Amino acid sequence: MNELSVPRPNNLDAYFMPFTDNKYFKGQPRLLARAEGMHYYTPEGKEILDGTAGLWCSNAGHGRREIIEAIQKQAEILDFAPTFQLGHPIAFEAAARVADLTPDGLDRVFFTNSGSESADTALKIALAYQRARGQAQRVRLVGRERGYHGVGFGGMSVGGIGGNRKQFGAMLPYVDHLPSTHLPGENAFSKGQPAHGAYLANELERLVALHGDTIAAVMVEPVAGSTGVLVPPVGYLERLRELCTKHGILLIYDEVITGFGRIGNHFGAERFGVIPDIMTMAKGLTNAAVPMGAVAVSNEIYDTIVDGTSAGIEFFHGYTYSGHPLAAAAAIAAIDIHVRDDLAGRVRSIEPYWEEASHSMRSAPNVIDIRNYGLTAGIELKSRDGKPGERAMQIFHRCFDDGLLVRVTGDIIALSPPLIIEKSHVDRIFTTLADAIHKEAA
Ligand SMILES: Cc1ncc(COP(=O)(O)O)c(C=O)c1O
Repeated sequence: MNELSVPRPNNLDAYFMPFTDNKYFKGQPRLLARAEGMHYYTPEGKEILDGTAGLWCSNAGHGRREIIEAIQKQAEILDFAPTFQLGHPIAFEAAARVADLTPDGLDRVFFTNSGSESADTALKIALAYQRARGQAQRVRLVGRERGYHGVGFGGMSVGGIGGNRKQFGAMLPYVDHLPSTHLPGENAFSKGQPAHGAYLANELERLVALHGDTIAAVMVEPVAGSTGVLVPPVGYLERLRELCTKHGILLIYDEVITGFGRIGNHFGAERFGVIPDIMTMAKGLTNAAVPMGAVAVSNEIYDTIVDGTSAGIEFFHGYTYSGHPLAAAAAIAAIDIHVRDDLAGRVRSIEPYWEEASHSMRSAPNVIDIRNYGLTAGIELKSRDGKPGERAMQIFHRCFDDGLLVRVTGDIIALSPPLIIEKSHVDRIFTTLADAIHKEAA
Protein backbone atom coordinates (compact mmCIF):
# COMPACT_ATOMS: atom_id res chain seq x y z
CA MET A 1 0.00 0.00 0.00
CA ASN A 2 1.54 3.34 -0.95
CA GLU A 3 0.93 6.59 0.87
CA LEU A 4 -2.14 7.34 -1.26
CA SER A 5 -3.80 3.97 -1.02
CA VAL A 6 -7.00 3.15 0.84
CA PRO A 7 -7.98 -0.49 1.43
CA ARG A 8 -10.61 -2.00 -0.86
CA PRO A 9 -13.79 -3.08 0.96
CA ASN A 10 -13.90 -6.83 1.70
CA ASN A 11 -17.56 -7.20 0.88
CA LEU A 12 -19.61 -5.35 -1.71
CA ASP A 13 -22.87 -7.22 -1.12
CA ALA A 14 -24.68 -5.06 1.41
CA TYR A 15 -24.61 -1.81 -0.51
CA PHE A 16 -27.65 -1.52 -2.83
CA MET A 17 -26.10 1.04 -5.14
CA PRO A 18 -28.07 3.93 -6.66
CA PHE A 19 -28.51 4.28 -10.45
CA THR A 20 -26.08 1.39 -10.90
CA ASP A 21 -25.91 -1.93 -12.69
CA ASN A 22 -25.25 -3.65 -9.33
CA LYS A 23 -24.58 -7.07 -10.87
CA TYR A 24 -22.01 -5.75 -13.31
CA PHE A 25 -20.38 -3.34 -10.89
CA LYS A 26 -19.90 -5.87 -8.13
CA GLY A 27 -18.19 -8.19 -10.57
CA GLN A 28 -15.86 -5.45 -11.81
CA PRO A 29 -15.83 -2.66 -9.22
CA ARG A 30 -14.32 0.66 -10.14
CA LEU A 31 -13.68 2.44 -6.88
CA LEU A 32 -12.77 6.02 -6.04
CA ALA A 33 -11.08 6.20 -2.67
CA ARG A 34 -9.78 9.74 -2.30
CA ALA A 35 -9.70 13.03 -4.17
CA GLU A 36 -7.81 16.26 -4.40
CA GLY A 37 -8.10 19.22 -6.76
CA MET A 38 -8.90 17.97 -10.26
CA HIS A 39 -8.32 14.31 -9.48
CA TYR A 40 -9.73 11.20 -7.91
CA TYR A 41 -7.54 8.29 -6.83
CA THR A 42 -8.44 4.61 -6.83
CA PRO A 43 -7.77 2.51 -3.71
CA GLU A 44 -4.41 1.60 -5.26
CA GLY A 45 -3.53 5.26 -5.75
CA LYS A 46 -4.12 5.47 -9.52
CA GLU A 47 -4.94 9.03 -10.60
CA ILE A 48 -8.23 9.68 -12.42
CA LEU A 49 -8.83 13.13 -13.95
CA ASP A 50 -12.29 14.28 -12.90
CA GLY A 51 -14.13 15.25 -16.08
CA THR A 52 -17.46 15.47 -14.28
CA ALA A 53 -16.85 17.30 -10.97
CA GLY A 54 -18.12 14.12 -9.30
CA LEU A 55 -21.76 14.38 -10.33
CA TRP A 56 -21.69 17.99 -11.61
CA CYS A 57 -21.11 19.12 -8.06
CA SER A 58 -17.49 19.54 -6.87
CA ASN A 59 -17.24 22.87 -8.65
CA ALA A 60 -14.26 24.23 -6.69
CA GLY A 61 -12.34 20.97 -7.03
CA HIS A 62 -11.88 18.33 -4.37
CA GLY A 63 -10.56 18.52 -0.84
CA ARG A 64 -10.72 22.30 -0.37
CA ARG A 65 -9.05 23.06 2.98
CA GLU A 66 -11.35 25.98 3.83
CA ILE A 67 -14.43 23.79 3.49
CA ILE A 68 -12.93 20.89 5.43
CA GLU A 69 -11.90 23.19 8.26
CA ALA A 70 -15.28 24.95 8.35
CA ILE A 71 -17.05 21.59 8.70
CA GLN A 72 -14.64 20.42 11.40
CA LYS A 73 -14.99 23.65 13.36
CA GLN A 74 -18.77 23.64 13.12
CA ALA A 75 -18.96 20.02 14.31
CA GLU A 76 -17.22 21.11 17.51
CA ILE A 77 -19.56 24.05 18.04
CA LEU A 78 -22.97 22.59 17.18
CA ASP A 79 -23.48 19.14 15.70
CA PHE A 80 -27.21 19.50 15.21
CA ALA A 81 -30.12 21.64 16.27
CA PRO A 82 -33.71 21.64 15.00
CA THR A 83 -34.96 24.37 12.71
CA PHE A 84 -38.65 23.77 13.38
CA GLN A 85 -39.80 26.63 15.65
CA LEU A 86 -36.13 27.11 16.65
CA GLY A 87 -33.06 28.33 14.83
CA HIS A 88 -29.30 28.38 14.95
CA PRO A 89 -27.08 31.24 13.84
CA ILE A 90 -25.19 29.59 11.01
CA ALA A 91 -28.35 28.57 9.10
CA PHE A 92 -29.43 32.23 8.95
CA GLU A 93 -25.95 33.25 7.88
CA ALA A 94 -25.91 30.61 5.13
CA ALA A 95 -29.33 31.75 3.85
CA ALA A 96 -28.13 35.36 3.71
CA ARG A 97 -25.03 34.31 1.78
CA VAL A 98 -27.12 32.40 -0.75
CA ALA A 99 -29.48 35.38 -1.09
CA ASP A 100 -26.46 37.60 -1.87
CA LEU A 101 -25.86 35.51 -4.99
CA THR A 102 -29.42 34.96 -6.22
CA PRO A 103 -31.00 37.54 -8.55
CA ASP A 104 -32.42 40.63 -6.82
CA GLY A 105 -35.88 39.97 -5.49
CA LEU A 106 -35.31 36.23 -4.97
CA ASP A 107 -34.07 36.72 -1.46
CA ARG A 108 -35.85 34.11 0.65
CA VAL A 109 -34.12 30.76 1.00
CA PHE A 110 -35.54 27.41 2.14
CA PHE A 111 -32.99 24.68 2.90
CA THR A 112 -33.21 21.04 1.87
CA ASN A 113 -30.66 18.22 1.65
CA SER A 114 -30.53 17.44 -2.05
CA GLY A 115 -31.60 18.49 -5.50
CA SER A 116 -34.55 16.11 -5.39
CA GLU A 117 -35.81 17.63 -2.18
CA SER A 118 -35.29 21.09 -3.64
CA ALA A 119 -37.43 20.19 -6.67
CA ASP A 120 -40.26 18.81 -4.56
CA THR A 121 -40.02 21.76 -2.19
CA ALA A 122 -40.21 24.23 -5.08
CA LEU A 123 -43.34 22.53 -6.42
CA LYS A 124 -44.96 22.60 -2.98
CA ILE A 125 -44.11 26.28 -2.52
CA ALA A 126 -45.70 27.01 -5.91
CA LEU A 127 -48.92 25.24 -4.92
CA ALA A 128 -48.99 26.91 -1.49
CA TYR A 129 -48.44 30.31 -3.07
CA GLN A 130 -51.23 29.91 -5.60
CA ARG A 131 -53.60 28.87 -2.83
CA ALA A 132 -52.50 31.75 -0.57
CA ARG A 133 -53.18 34.29 -3.32
CA GLY A 134 -56.68 32.94 -3.88
CA GLN A 135 -55.92 30.75 -6.90
CA ALA A 136 -56.48 27.37 -5.27
CA GLN A 137 -57.66 25.94 -8.59
CA ARG A 138 -54.08 26.15 -9.86
CA VAL A 139 -53.04 22.60 -9.01
CA ARG A 140 -51.35 21.56 -12.25
CA LEU A 141 -47.59 21.33 -12.64
CA VAL A 142 -45.86 21.48 -15.98
CA GLY A 143 -42.42 20.07 -16.72
CA ARG A 144 -40.62 19.30 -19.95
CA GLU A 145 -39.81 16.10 -21.75
CA ARG A 146 -36.24 15.00 -20.94
CA GLY A 147 -36.19 17.25 -17.86
CA TYR A 148 -34.55 15.89 -14.72
CA HIS A 149 -35.67 17.10 -11.34
CA GLY A 150 -34.45 14.28 -9.15
CA VAL A 151 -36.17 11.21 -7.88
CA GLY A 152 -38.85 12.29 -5.42
CA PHE A 153 -42.41 11.75 -6.59
CA GLY A 154 -42.83 15.43 -7.48
CA GLY A 155 -39.59 15.85 -9.38
CA MET A 156 -39.92 12.44 -11.04
CA SER A 157 -43.46 13.21 -12.23
CA VAL A 158 -42.66 16.68 -13.50
CA GLY A 159 -39.41 15.32 -14.90
CA GLY A 160 -39.49 13.89 -18.37
CA ILE A 161 -37.05 11.01 -18.47
CA GLY A 162 -39.04 7.89 -19.27
CA GLY A 163 -36.52 5.44 -17.88
CA ASN A 164 -36.66 7.09 -14.46
CA ARG A 165 -40.45 6.77 -14.30
CA LYS A 166 -41.37 3.40 -15.71
CA GLN A 167 -40.87 1.31 -12.54
CA PHE A 168 -42.91 3.55 -10.29
CA GLY A 169 -46.56 3.48 -11.18
CA ALA A 170 -48.96 6.33 -11.62
CA MET A 171 -46.91 9.43 -10.74
CA LEU A 172 -48.50 12.63 -9.43
CA PRO A 173 -51.83 13.53 -11.02
CA TYR A 174 -52.32 16.86 -12.84
CA VAL A 175 -48.91 16.98 -14.46
CA ASP A 176 -48.23 17.86 -18.08
CA HIS A 177 -45.13 18.38 -20.16
CA LEU A 178 -43.72 20.76 -22.72
CA PRO A 179 -41.75 19.19 -25.56
CA SER A 180 -38.00 18.94 -25.15
CA THR A 181 -35.90 21.55 -26.91
CA HIS A 182 -33.81 18.94 -28.72
CA LEU A 183 -33.97 19.58 -32.48
CA PRO A 184 -31.06 17.63 -33.93
CA GLY A 185 -32.23 18.19 -37.52
CA GLU A 186 -31.84 21.95 -37.20
CA ASN A 187 -29.37 22.40 -34.37
CA ALA A 188 -26.80 19.58 -34.46
CA PHE A 189 -23.26 20.75 -33.61
CA SER A 190 -24.41 24.17 -32.41
CA LYS A 191 -21.85 26.04 -30.36
CA GLY A 192 -23.50 27.56 -27.30
CA GLN A 193 -27.20 28.37 -27.66
CA PRO A 194 -28.78 26.80 -30.75
CA ALA A 195 -30.49 29.14 -33.18
CA HIS A 196 -33.73 27.22 -33.67
CA GLY A 197 -36.52 26.28 -31.30
CA ALA A 198 -37.71 29.36 -29.38
CA TYR A 199 -41.16 28.54 -30.76
CA LEU A 200 -41.25 25.37 -28.63
CA ALA A 201 -42.06 27.56 -25.62
CA ASN A 202 -45.37 28.40 -27.35
CA GLU A 203 -46.52 24.90 -26.45
CA LEU A 204 -47.36 26.41 -23.07
CA GLU A 205 -50.16 28.33 -24.81
CA ARG A 206 -51.55 25.00 -25.98
CA LEU A 207 -51.48 23.64 -22.41
CA VAL A 208 -53.19 26.79 -21.16
CA ALA A 209 -55.88 26.38 -23.82
CA LEU A 210 -56.36 22.82 -22.60
CA HIS A 211 -56.15 23.35 -18.85
CA GLY A 212 -57.34 26.94 -18.44
CA ASP A 213 -56.30 28.70 -15.26
CA THR A 214 -55.40 25.51 -13.42
CA ILE A 215 -51.64 25.58 -13.99
CA ALA A 216 -49.63 26.55 -10.91
CA ALA A 217 -46.08 26.40 -12.22
CA VAL A 218 -43.72 25.40 -15.00
CA MET A 219 -40.39 23.87 -13.99
CA VAL A 220 -37.42 23.60 -16.36
CA GLU A 221 -33.67 23.37 -16.12
CA PRO A 222 -32.11 26.44 -17.79
CA VAL A 223 -29.65 24.01 -19.43
CA ALA A 224 -30.90 20.44 -19.14
CA GLY A 225 -27.93 18.53 -17.76
CA SER A 226 -28.69 14.96 -16.80
CA THR A 227 -30.40 14.15 -20.08
CA GLY A 228 -27.14 14.93 -21.87
CA VAL A 229 -26.73 18.73 -22.05
CA LEU A 230 -29.56 20.41 -23.93
CA VAL A 231 -28.95 24.13 -24.24
CA PRO A 232 -32.00 26.40 -24.56
CA PRO A 233 -32.48 27.81 -28.07
CA VAL A 234 -32.01 31.55 -28.44
CA GLY A 235 -35.18 33.29 -27.24
CA TYR A 236 -36.75 30.17 -25.68
CA LEU A 237 -36.44 31.12 -22.00
CA GLU A 238 -37.52 34.69 -22.77
CA ARG A 239 -40.69 33.39 -24.41
CA LEU A 240 -41.39 30.96 -21.57
CA ARG A 241 -41.02 33.79 -19.05
CA GLU A 242 -43.35 35.99 -21.06
CA LEU A 243 -46.03 33.31 -21.27
CA CYS A 244 -45.80 32.38 -17.59
CA THR A 245 -46.26 36.02 -16.60
CA LYS A 246 -49.11 36.47 -19.05
CA HIS A 247 -51.00 33.45 -17.69
CA GLY A 248 -50.33 33.82 -13.94
CA ILE A 249 -48.08 30.76 -13.89
CA LEU A 250 -44.92 30.62 -11.77
CA LEU A 251 -41.66 29.91 -13.54
CA ILE A 252 -39.33 27.60 -11.62
CA TYR A 253 -35.74 27.09 -12.72
CA ASP A 254 -34.08 23.94 -11.53
CA GLU A 255 -30.57 25.30 -11.10
CA VAL A 256 -29.17 22.25 -9.33
CA ILE A 257 -26.54 21.93 -12.05
CA THR A 258 -26.47 25.43 -13.51
CA GLY A 259 -26.07 27.13 -10.12
CA PHE A 260 -22.79 28.20 -8.59
CA GLY A 261 -20.80 29.05 -11.67
CA ARG A 262 -21.26 26.02 -13.92
CA ILE A 263 -22.42 28.15 -16.87
CA GLY A 264 -20.42 31.28 -16.18
CA ASN A 265 -22.54 33.26 -13.70
CA HIS A 266 -23.69 32.58 -10.17
CA PHE A 267 -26.87 31.15 -11.70
CA GLY A 268 -28.26 30.39 -15.15
CA ALA A 269 -30.93 33.03 -14.56
CA GLU A 270 -28.22 35.68 -14.65
CA ARG A 271 -26.39 34.23 -17.64
CA PHE A 272 -29.57 34.11 -19.73
CA GLY A 273 -30.93 37.36 -18.31
CA VAL A 274 -34.30 35.70 -17.70
CA ILE A 275 -35.35 35.60 -14.07
CA PRO A 276 -37.69 32.93 -12.66
CA ASP A 277 -39.97 33.22 -9.62
CA ILE A 278 -38.41 30.26 -7.82
CA MET A 279 -35.07 28.55 -8.26
CA THR A 280 -33.72 25.32 -6.87
CA MET A 281 -30.11 24.56 -6.10
CA ALA A 282 -27.91 21.88 -4.47
CA LYS A 283 -24.61 20.33 -5.65
CA GLY A 284 -22.17 23.30 -5.90
CA LEU A 285 -23.87 25.00 -2.95
CA THR A 286 -21.55 23.15 -0.54
CA ASN A 287 -19.12 22.02 -3.22
CA ALA A 288 -20.79 18.67 -2.42
CA ALA A 289 -18.73 18.26 0.75
CA VAL A 290 -21.93 17.89 2.81
CA PRO A 291 -25.32 17.23 1.22
CA MET A 292 -27.42 20.38 1.03
CA GLY A 293 -29.99 21.89 -1.29
CA ALA A 294 -31.93 25.12 -1.24
CA VAL A 295 -34.86 26.86 -2.89
CA ALA A 296 -34.79 30.61 -3.41
CA VAL A 297 -38.16 32.27 -3.84
CA SER A 298 -39.27 35.76 -4.72
CA ASN A 299 -40.02 38.03 -1.82
CA GLU A 300 -43.58 38.25 -3.12
CA ILE A 301 -44.04 34.49 -2.87
CA TYR A 302 -42.62 34.41 0.65
CA ASP A 303 -44.75 37.37 1.76
CA THR A 304 -47.92 35.95 0.24
CA ILE A 305 -47.48 32.58 1.95
CA VAL A 306 -46.35 34.02 5.28
CA ASP A 307 -48.86 36.87 5.38
CA GLY A 308 -51.60 34.56 4.18
CA THR A 309 -51.73 32.95 7.62
CA SER A 310 -52.73 35.05 10.61
CA ALA A 311 -50.85 32.90 13.15
CA GLY A 312 -49.14 29.53 13.36
CA ILE A 313 -47.03 27.60 10.88
CA GLU A 314 -47.36 29.08 7.39
CA PHE A 315 -45.82 26.29 5.30
CA PHE A 316 -46.24 22.69 6.39
CA HIS A 317 -43.01 21.41 4.97
CA GLY A 318 -39.42 20.92 6.07
CA TYR A 319 -36.76 18.32 6.71
CA THR A 320 -35.10 17.31 9.96
CA TYR A 321 -31.84 18.42 8.41
CA SER A 322 -33.05 21.67 6.75
CA GLY A 323 -30.22 24.11 7.45
CA HIS A 324 -28.04 21.46 9.10
CA PRO A 325 -25.14 23.23 10.84
CA LEU A 326 -22.38 21.25 9.08
CA ALA A 327 -23.99 21.81 5.69
CA ALA A 328 -24.48 25.51 6.45
CA ALA A 329 -20.80 25.80 7.39
CA ALA A 330 -19.78 24.02 4.19
CA ALA A 331 -22.06 26.29 2.13
CA ILE A 332 -20.59 29.47 3.58
CA ALA A 333 -17.04 28.24 2.97
CA ALA A 334 -17.91 27.10 -0.56
CA ILE A 335 -19.55 30.45 -1.35
CA ASP A 336 -16.46 32.22 -0.02
CA ILE A 337 -14.32 30.30 -2.51
CA HIS A 338 -16.84 30.77 -5.33
CA VAL A 339 -16.80 34.55 -4.84
CA ARG A 340 -13.13 35.06 -3.91
CA ASP A 341 -11.78 32.92 -6.75
CA ASP A 342 -14.43 34.20 -9.18
CA LEU A 343 -15.19 30.68 -10.35
CA ALA A 344 -17.97 31.96 -12.60
CA GLY A 345 -15.51 34.34 -14.27
CA ARG A 346 -13.04 31.49 -14.72
CA VAL A 347 -15.73 29.57 -16.56
CA ARG A 348 -16.36 32.45 -18.92
CA SER A 349 -12.67 32.87 -19.65
CA ILE A 350 -12.01 29.20 -20.39
CA GLU A 351 -15.34 28.60 -22.15
CA PRO A 352 -14.10 29.42 -25.70
CA TYR A 353 -11.20 26.99 -25.30
CA TRP A 354 -13.54 24.36 -23.87
CA GLU A 355 -15.99 24.91 -26.71
CA GLU A 356 -13.33 24.45 -29.40
CA ALA A 357 -11.95 21.36 -27.66
CA SER A 358 -15.44 19.84 -27.32
CA HIS A 359 -16.23 20.42 -30.97
CA SER A 360 -12.90 18.92 -32.02
CA MET A 361 -14.61 15.57 -31.28
CA ARG A 362 -16.76 16.11 -34.37
CA SER A 363 -14.34 14.18 -36.54
CA ALA A 364 -14.34 11.15 -34.20
CA PRO A 365 -16.28 8.09 -35.37
CA ASN A 366 -20.01 7.80 -34.63
CA VAL A 367 -20.32 11.33 -33.21
CA ILE A 368 -23.73 12.68 -34.30
CA ASP A 369 -24.00 15.84 -32.19
CA ILE A 370 -21.99 18.02 -29.84
CA ARG A 371 -23.55 20.57 -27.49
CA ASN A 372 -21.80 22.88 -25.05
CA TYR A 373 -22.48 25.73 -22.68
CA GLY A 374 -20.37 27.14 -19.84
CA LEU A 375 -18.30 24.24 -18.58
CA THR A 376 -20.59 21.54 -19.86
CA ALA A 377 -20.52 19.46 -22.99
CA GLY A 378 -22.62 16.64 -24.37
CA ILE A 379 -21.15 14.44 -27.08
CA GLU A 380 -23.79 12.26 -28.64
CA LEU A 381 -22.90 9.02 -30.37
CA LYS A 382 -24.84 6.91 -32.82
CA SER A 383 -26.20 3.93 -30.88
CA ARG A 384 -25.25 0.40 -31.79
CA ASP A 385 -28.10 -1.40 -33.52
CA GLY A 386 -30.56 -2.64 -30.91
CA LYS A 387 -28.18 -1.86 -28.05
CA PRO A 388 -28.72 1.71 -26.92
CA GLY A 389 -26.21 2.92 -24.35
CA GLU A 390 -23.73 0.11 -24.91
CA ARG A 391 -21.29 2.12 -27.00
CA ALA A 392 -21.04 5.02 -24.55
CA MET A 393 -20.73 2.65 -21.59
CA GLN A 394 -17.80 0.94 -23.22
CA ILE A 395 -16.17 4.34 -23.79
CA PHE A 396 -16.82 5.25 -20.16
CA HIS A 397 -15.00 2.10 -19.00
CA ARG A 398 -12.13 2.68 -21.39
CA CYS A 399 -11.73 6.31 -20.26
CA PHE A 400 -11.72 5.24 -16.62
CA ASP A 401 -9.05 2.66 -17.28
CA ASP A 402 -7.06 5.40 -19.07
CA GLY A 403 -7.38 7.75 -16.07
CA LEU A 404 -10.37 9.92 -17.00
CA LEU A 405 -13.81 10.09 -15.43
CA VAL A 406 -16.63 10.93 -17.85
CA ARG A 407 -20.36 10.44 -17.42
CA VAL A 408 -22.72 8.71 -19.78
CA THR A 409 -26.43 8.91 -20.25
CA GLY A 410 -27.76 6.70 -23.02
CA ASP A 411 -25.21 7.16 -25.79
CA ILE A 412 -24.31 10.69 -24.76
CA ILE A 413 -21.04 11.46 -23.03
CA ALA A 414 -21.56 14.35 -20.62
CA LEU A 415 -18.67 16.42 -19.37
CA SER A 416 -18.73 18.96 -16.54
CA PRO A 417 -15.31 19.29 -14.92
CA PRO A 418 -14.50 21.26 -11.77
CA LEU A 419 -14.44 24.97 -12.54
CA ILE A 420 -10.78 25.22 -11.48
CA ILE A 421 -9.82 23.34 -14.65
CA GLU A 422 -6.71 24.46 -16.57
CA LYS A 423 -6.20 24.25 -20.33
CA SER A 424 -3.82 21.32 -19.88
CA HIS A 425 -6.65 19.35 -18.21
CA VAL A 426 -9.01 20.26 -21.05
CA ASP A 427 -6.45 18.89 -23.52
CA ARG A 428 -6.11 15.68 -21.54
CA ILE A 429 -9.85 15.16 -21.28
CA PHE A 430 -10.35 15.42 -25.03
CA THR A 431 -7.29 13.46 -26.14
CA THR A 432 -8.20 10.60 -23.77
CA LEU A 433 -11.82 10.71 -24.89
CA ALA A 434 -10.96 10.86 -28.60
CA ASP A 435 -8.66 7.89 -28.15
CA ALA A 436 -11.40 5.91 -26.36
CA ILE A 437 -13.98 6.76 -29.07
CA HIS A 438 -11.57 5.70 -31.82
CA LYS A 439 -10.63 2.46 -30.07
CA GLU A 440 -14.28 1.57 -29.50
CA ALA A 441 -14.99 2.04 -33.21
CA ALA A 442 -11.96 0.08 -34.36
C1 LIG B 1 -31.44 19.64 -12.47
C2 LIG B 1 -31.40 18.63 -11.36
N1 LIG B 1 -32.37 18.62 -10.44
C3 LIG B 1 -32.37 17.76 -9.43
C4 LIG B 1 -31.37 16.83 -9.30
C5 LIG B 1 -31.41 15.85 -8.18
O1 LIG B 1 -30.43 16.12 -7.25
P1 LIG B 1 -30.07 15.04 -6.13
O2 LIG B 1 -29.44 13.89 -6.83
O3 LIG B 1 -29.14 15.81 -5.23
O4 LIG B 1 -31.32 14.67 -5.45
C6 LIG B 1 -30.33 16.80 -10.22
C7 LIG B 1 -29.25 15.83 -10.12
O5 LIG B 1 -28.44 15.64 -11.01
C8 LIG B 1 -30.35 17.71 -11.29
O6 LIG B 1 -29.41 17.72 -12.23
